[in-house]
Amino acid sequence: MAIREIRVEDDEILRKKSRDVKEINEKIITLLDDMAETMYNANGGGLAAPQVGVLKKVVVIDVGDGLIELINPVVIETKGEKVIEEACLSFPGKMGKVIRPRYVKVEALNRDGEKITVEGEGLLAVALCHETDHLNGVLYVDKVI
Ligand code: NI
Repeated sequence: MAIREIRVEDDEILRKKSRDVKEINEKIITLLDDMAETMYNANGGGLAAPQVGVLKKVVVIDVGDGLIELINPVVIETKGEKVIEEACLSFPGKMGKVIRPRYVKVEALNRDGEKITVEGEGLLAVALCHETDHLNGVLYVDKVI
């Protein structure tokens, strides 16, 4: 495992769209491991692959209930709205208010290639939206109200 450099601010890669992972090979497993280590090292609650310079649909999240790894995540359901204060490891020291759903359901693959469903409210719902946005080159700073 290794800590990777987190891309920040106006690094162009943060604006690019990530590609689907076609095959979960050793490179992807190492990426997942490194992303988790990088996220924990930076005291973050989530990290998306473009933030470490890789344009692949890979996300890690830990909002305090354990590590969640998502490959090719897709938001399939949302409910409600909530104003929440958000931050991002790519914008150190900044925060902003964003409107996010109260409830989010995501479909993805786990590292074994199995289809999983993750649903959550509160911080987890926010993280699921925030990190899947990253895969589309969308940043929370675009959505600050
Ligand atoms: Ni972020």
